[in-house]
Amino acid sequence: MFLALNLVALFAVAASSAANDTFNLTPFKIDLSSKIPRLKELVRNTRLPAKALYADASPDKGIEVDFLRELQTEWVETFDWDAQQAELNQFEQYTAIIEGQTVHFVHEKSDDTDAMPLILLHGWPGSFQEFAPVIKPLTQSWTSATGKKISYNVVVPSLPGFVFSSTLPQNSTVDDTARIYNTLMTEVLGYSTFAVHGTDWGSSVGYSLYSSFNATVRAAQFVSLPFWPPSAQDIAGNNITLSAEEEVTEQRFTERSATGNGYFIEQTDKPNDIGLALYDSPVGQLAWIGGSFKQWSDPRAGTPPSVLNNTAILTSVSLYYLTESFLSSVWIYAQNPNGFPTVYTKADTDAPMLFSQYEYNVALWPEEYVAKVGNLVSYKGRDFGGHFAGLGNPPALIEYIREMGLYLKA
Ligand SMILES: *[C@@H]1O[C@H](CO)[C@@H](O)[C@H](O)[C@H]1NC(C)=O
Ligand SMILES: *[C@@H]1O[C@H](CO)[C@@H](O)[C@H](O)[C@H]1NC(C)=O
Ligand SMILES: *[C@@H]1O[C@H](CO)[C@@H](O)[C@H](O)[C@H]1NC(C)=O
Ligand SMILES: *[C@@H]1O[C@H](CO)[C@@H](O)[C@H](O)[C@H]1NC(C)=O
Ligand SMILES: *[C@@H]1O[C@H](CO)[C@@H](O)[C@H](O)[C@H]1NC(C)=O
Repeated sequence: MFLALNLVALFAVAASSAANDTFNLTPFKIDLSSKIPRLKELVRNTRLPAKALYADASPDKGIEVDFLRELQTEWVETFDWDAQQAELNQFEQYTAIIEGQTVHFVHEKSDDTDAMPLILLHGWPGSFQEFAPVIKPLTQSWTSATGKKISYNVVVPSLPGFVFSSTLPQNSTVDDTARIYNTLMTEVLGYSTFAVHGTDWGSSVGYSLYSSFNATVRAAQFVSLPFWPPSAQDIAGNNITLSAEEEVTEQRFTERSATGNGYFIEQTDKPNDIGLALYDSPVGQLAWIGGSFKQWSDPRAGTPPSVLNNTAILTSVSLYYLTESFLSSVWIYAQNPNGFPTVYTKADTDAPMLFSQYEYNVALWPEEYVAKVGNLVSYKGRDFGGHFAGLGNPPALIEYIREMGLYLKA
């Protein structure tokens, strides 16, 4: 395989000019600074209640007004969009036209000629920004305990309808996105095989790639699965014993199932209601999204190794607001009403699959369940981190993705 990749590298120049003709591959830089004055004006002029209606209401009832006000104040007074934009623009970005749709993506190449191509797939309410802390480290050469050298050419697309990628037709699903990304990796970028990491909706797209493109996807690493997580009763009924950390996660899932799925039902049933209500309301989007960033994360979020602090949340919401993609982002739920089947089926592939379960994720997929859906070669638990793995514990995600390299055949 490494020989094949070297040949791909030799032909890269020829391939990219062909790709430019066919797919209109074009360098891209984020340039949204001119929209910041209006954003700040709207944020500044948005009224919030002076105090919480019920001071002792649980965060389960939604974002707390004091936290929302703290974020609102930071957005106006200290948040520096230009600095965040410059940080994201450190990554090589492109757009390509695939099946008539604009696909925005980061493409950061390793200096190693035998680096493995890798696609990182984000979810909602995230964006390619979720992976900012892990992109450059993954391009760097790392040597395993067994002496294997591992590095990646990292591709991070924006999901259709998210930030700079255009929306797909209404009846499209994650399977269409997977097909488009397989074209991106193989035809636009000229990689014959690649590895996949996915989280949230990105794991739905990633799992579709893993199961439908078994000739090109040769390893996958997930932190969530596109199968409905088992209830505590299902787990007990299958005689599965959970560790103390897994008990914490399962408890979170039980609570979330009872009180945390309102957003999911809303976005599945009435995406236009919430999408249009908040279309031109940055503080509204912040209230809808900001609470999820906090609730779905480790309570220690924002302290090392987590970089998921207020700045990261404001950058994420700014990206949605400034690109006017909040409406189209919530449609992914409506477009995939069967996105989380309860029956676990096995992908027809011999490609290795790895899974890592963060203690503060919103759901638990026990090893016995994960093993039903793919060729599971590694299952790891982590006691620091939540739903946003790339921001919530970047060193752990880097470690897991590098581990995937150990299973790629030389
Ligand atoms: C592709 O062609 C366009 C138009 O000629 C040019 O602006 C762009 O830089 C090219 N992209 C690459 C990656 O060569
Ligand atoms: C989706 O709609 C388009 C026309 O808008 C049609 O060509 C296509 O077959 C439809 N796809 C599915 C899966 O129904
Ligand atoms: C679980 O264990 C009980 C008692 O040993 C047994 O009767 C039952 O069949 C087991 N269930 C499964 C799903 O293996
Ligand atoms: C958030 O974290 C980033 C990176 O670790 C840091 O540069 C920034 O100052 C932090 N922001 C706040 C509000 O603490
Ligand atoms: C890929 O999938 C096809 C069709 O499902 C199957 O026949 C084939 O054995 C699979 N190949 C690998 C390498 O898993």
